[in-house]
Amino acid sequence: MLRFEPKEQKGALPPKGRFSTEERMMNLNAREFMLTPEQRKAVESRSMDIVVLANPGGGKTALIVERIHHLVTKMQVPPESIMALTFTSKSATELRQRVHKRIGITSKAMWIRAFHSAGLQLMKTFPAAAGLQDDFMILDVAERRQLIRKTVLAQQRFRYLSEDELLDHITRAKNGIVLFADLPVDVQRALSLYEGIMREQNAIDLDDMVMKALKVLTNEVIQHQIHKRFHHILIDEYQDINAVQERLVQQMLGAQASRFLVGDPDQTIYEWRGAKPAYMINHSKKAELIELTQNFRSPIPIVDLANHVIAQNTKRDRKPMQGLGEDIYVPVVGRFENEVAQAEFVAMQIKQLIDEKRFRFSDVAILIRGHSQTPVLEEALSNADIPYGGELFWSQPAVSSALALLQAIEQPYYNNNLAKAINTPSRVMDSLQLQKLAKEYEVQHLSTADQLLVLSHLPGEWPHHSAFRQRLNSLLALHKDSRLEVSSSLISQLISAFELEDDPDSRSNQLTLYAATKKLLDLALSFETSRSRAPLRDFLHHINGLRSEAQAPGHPHGNVQILTCHHSKGLEFPVVFVIGVQLGIFPNDFFMETEEDLEAERRLFYVAITRAQKALFLTAYHDPEWQPSRPDFELKSFLSAIPSTLAQEVY
Ligand SMILES: Nc1ncnc2c1ncn2[C@@H]1O[C@H](COP(=O)(O)OP(=O)(O)OP(=O)(O)O)[C@@H](O)[C@H]1O
Ligand SMILES: [Mg+2]
Repeated sequence: MLRFEPKEQKGALPPKGRFSTEERMMNLNAREFMLTPEQRKAVESRSMDIVVLANPGGGKTALIVERIHHLVTKMQVPPESIMALTFTSKSATELRQRVHKRIGITSKAMWIRAFHSAGLQLMKTFPAAAGLQDDFMILDVAERRQLIRKTVLAQQRFRYLSEDELLDHITRAKNGIVLFADLPVDVQRALSLYEGIMREQNAIDLDDMVMKALKVLTNEVIQHQIHKRFHHILIDEYQDINAVQERLVQQMLGAQASRFLVGDPDQTIYEWRGAKPAYMINHSKKAELIELTQNFRSPIPIVDLANHVIAQNTKRDRKPMQGLGEDIYVPVVGRFENEVAQAEFVAMQIKQLIDEKRFRFSDVAILIRGHSQTPVLEEALSNADIPYGGELFWSQPAVSSALALLQAIEQPYYNNNLAKAINTPSRVMDSLQLQKLAKEYEVQHLSTADQLLVLSHLPGEWPHHSAFRQRLNSLLALHKDSRLEVSSSLISQLISAFELEDDPDSRSNQLTLYAATKKLLDLALSFETSRSRAPLRDFLHHINGLRSEAQAPGHPHGNVQILTCHHSKGLEFPVVFVIGVQLGIFPNDFFMETEEDLEAERRLFYVAITRAQKALFLTAYHDPEWQPSRPDFELKSFLSAIPSTLAQEVY
């Protein structure tokens, strides 16, 4: 009788226990590609100062991982003497995972962090040197806003400053974009008051993390300890470093430390936050410079298209990149008659790619320029049963504030609606003040809404009393009209009654209350065209439906990701849609004054396009309402500049 014998187990995994966990990790995660000779040169260079300039997909982030691997395994560098820095927590986490995969648990001894987290670690280790006590608090964005509202803006003399404006000034001052002395006098005072309160409360905010770390390093003993520990510093995306971060790097580096900086000046997208690619260029003059021009990420047609786009920026001297991959998918440029048609096209394409089993939902990213772009898209995705997640319109804080205003117009006496709304966009009557006044005027027994109504008729004087009365009266007048007028008309009146407008000095990417309300106005207008009568109540029901869709749990096969072009930096996705590539949205002309501003927008477009690993779709739609924000500046369309030979056009 024949006996079945198992085959000889040549090359199979060794029995458990023969290798350490770390060695097993290394076996299981063998490198998936071979470095090119130029890449290898960068990885193995013995220079103290190395700068790698490479285009998107050139392997810059991969080189950081490979160099760390080389240092630890070939050069016997102790892992704890290595520090790798990036700009966001997300990219730091990704880098940490990639290094861990590559070299195993020894990576835990390294510092692989975002700049702010490295600064925070210094402060946690040496709080006294930062002027803090051990148990200091870190205010998140919401807590910081609350502190500003309750303490600084509650003061009569700062009443006219808006919260967004002040936050913007604080961030700019703490990141070295403006000098304290150059701020308007009242802002200087408000900032000093804010800083005093932070000191009293033993608290820091997100912007302090790098600034205060610099203070720690002015202590020579501490600086010596840091210099003794870290001998290798590697930094990704160096083109986006700002003055304060650059100083931190200088302070942390001892005379013996080596520096490995990678970046791409064509991908500088944070100049408005103080980033200066000049730091990288200047370093490259003193360092061993390695320039790479291959793109390992995207197929040739996408590389050709991206080269064509960035070549229109005149102040650059980089060579075009070379694509190596296959060319199954030609980039698609789609122009549509309206926003809904654009969104339906995106949904239909995604369905098709998934139905053909070529991609999964999680392979797809939809990149946006701003958060106003997503509600129409979200609706189309949900109508097509496409699971999606990411930076959604309905989860933006400004949208919640705008909806609080609409809810107060619809039902002022319900659920504290009126109290919430009058404190939008700035606090004019907080609950403590209301309690105090209610007691003073003996109206505690009334509901909150009635207390507010009574107070608005009393002659008393208290901080913000006129804004309080004006807002309350406007909301009640709109409520009166809400039975007769359609939602869009109410929202337009609300915008002018509350004097909502965009702040031309703020370049922050946050959706503003004005932009959120304006988008709700657009949604109301299109909602009204599909219905004969559309009172505010129906519109709010419709909106609530959309919001609950957005909060539904994810699909088992992952989600389509919606994210801003800024947040897509450094990432790669098999399928990329960039939507709203049209005058006014992308390029966004709100801040545009010079040709350099347009070039900055074009760099952002370049970053977006170069995320695609297989398929790329660029879409735009006709918006008859659009008016240039700067009529004196000639805006140029990104899509019109793409020749038909480089993309397939659909309508
Ligand atoms: N020599 C190579 N052969 C094959 N693939 C490579 C090579 N080098 C890098 N890659 C791959 O190319 C892709 C892009 O690499 P990476 O993300 O490191 O580029 P990058 O220069 O950091 O891009 P970006 O500027 O967009 O951040 C990754 O999937 C990486 O694994
Ligand atoms: Mg990268």
